[in-house]
Amino acid sequence: MAETLSSEQYSATLIDHFNHPRNAGRMEDADAEAFVTNPVCGDSMRMFLRFDEDGGRIAAASFLSSGCPASIATSSVATEMVTGRTPEEAEALTRDDFAEAVGGLPKSKVHCSVLAAAAVRNAIASWRASKTSV
Ligand code: FES
Repeated sequence: MAETLSSEQYSATLIDHFNHPRNAGRMEDADAEAFVTNPVCGDSMRMFLRFDEDGGRIAAASFLSSGCPASIATSSVATEMVTGRTPEEAEALTRDDFAEAVGGLPKSKVHCSVLAAAAVRNAIASWRASKTSV
């Protein structure tokens, strides 16, 4: 049964990702990374991606965050959602997809999912740029 949340409540899924972030930490063998800052609040996060050998899919993702619970939770779920996807599929994921995956965000926290979405896109762009510059 779907949860019914008040406009300022965190879902149980969001709280779980905040308390137990998936894929948190620096990735030493990353193929690409991106650092993004949320212009609304100044919070930031860094995302790391590793690609499989032919670059066809994202093999692993991790993140470091100095953000709020909503940004940590959406970053955590983003690392799960992009892993195994092609770069194009990962780029197509939106902040709404990440917000929905943590059970929705309170109205005042809707902007927090922008960090994960921007970091995924920027890290993939950085990876593409690194491939064309060699
Ligand atoms: S309040 Fe800054 S990302 Fe949530």
